[in-house]
Amino acid sequence: MEGIFVTFEGPDGSGKTTQLKMLAERLHSKGYDVVVTREPGGTPISDEVRRILLSPDNEEMIDQTEVLLYAAARAQHVHEKIIPALEQKRIVLCDRYIDASVAYQAYGLGLDLQTVLAISQFASGGLQPVRTYMLDVPVEVSRQRLLDRSSGGSGPMLDRIELKGNEYHARVRKGFLAVAESNRERIRLIQADRPLQEIADEIAEDFEKLIHPDSKVRV
Ligand code: TMP
Repeated sequence: MEGIFVTFEGPDGSGKTTQLKMLAERLHSKGYDVVVTREPGGTPISDEVRRILLSPDNEEMIDQTEVLLYAAARAQHVHEKIIPALEQKRIVLCDRYIDASVAYQAYGLGLDLQTVLAISQFASGGLQPVRTYMLDVPVEVSRQRLLDRSSGGSGPMLDRIELKGNEYHARVRKGFLAVAESNRERIRLIQADRPLQEIADEIAEDFEKLIHPDSKVRV
């Protein structure tokens, strides 16, 4: 398997999806073969699981169900879509992956970290990204972005996870920062409270080094 698996992580409202799209467009325009995908989702079965997970109607969902459903969506996604794309030597840019389960289910909900990791390992077969861009913004900034988006009518309504309170989201952010701290080789922590293009350039520059470690060619 010689493709390149890269993930984007960060709290809701951190701007990671925008940055993923900007990198994908940049790579497409240079002729790279890029697959853009996301979790939970990415395949028809995983998208069905996503709907269950995010529907505000499913308030009764217990924490164990939540972690298992994220893992179920991930198992299908990894085996049906990500691994085949990597086998075709493609670049896979994935919006969220296992770090999100650690941040949201272990740190956010308070589930046992080792259990969350073991479930994720089972689901993913151990597949890890070579690089993760983790976008970080203060909780007040990310929450305000989400509220502006939903109240302004310019975007979707808040989903079941986004509707959880500020304390929960502060724990999630702490979780992401802890994951970044203990995976310094793989994760680039990016201050995301900055102009979009500046962040995009920083990511592109790092990605260029990742795929052409000895070259000065810009992507
Ligand atoms: P998205 O808004 O980035 O598409 O992600 C959907 C929501 O699912 C988001 O609030 C984060 C959450 N999530 C988890 O709680 N655990 C996970 O493992 C993943 C992949 C996402």
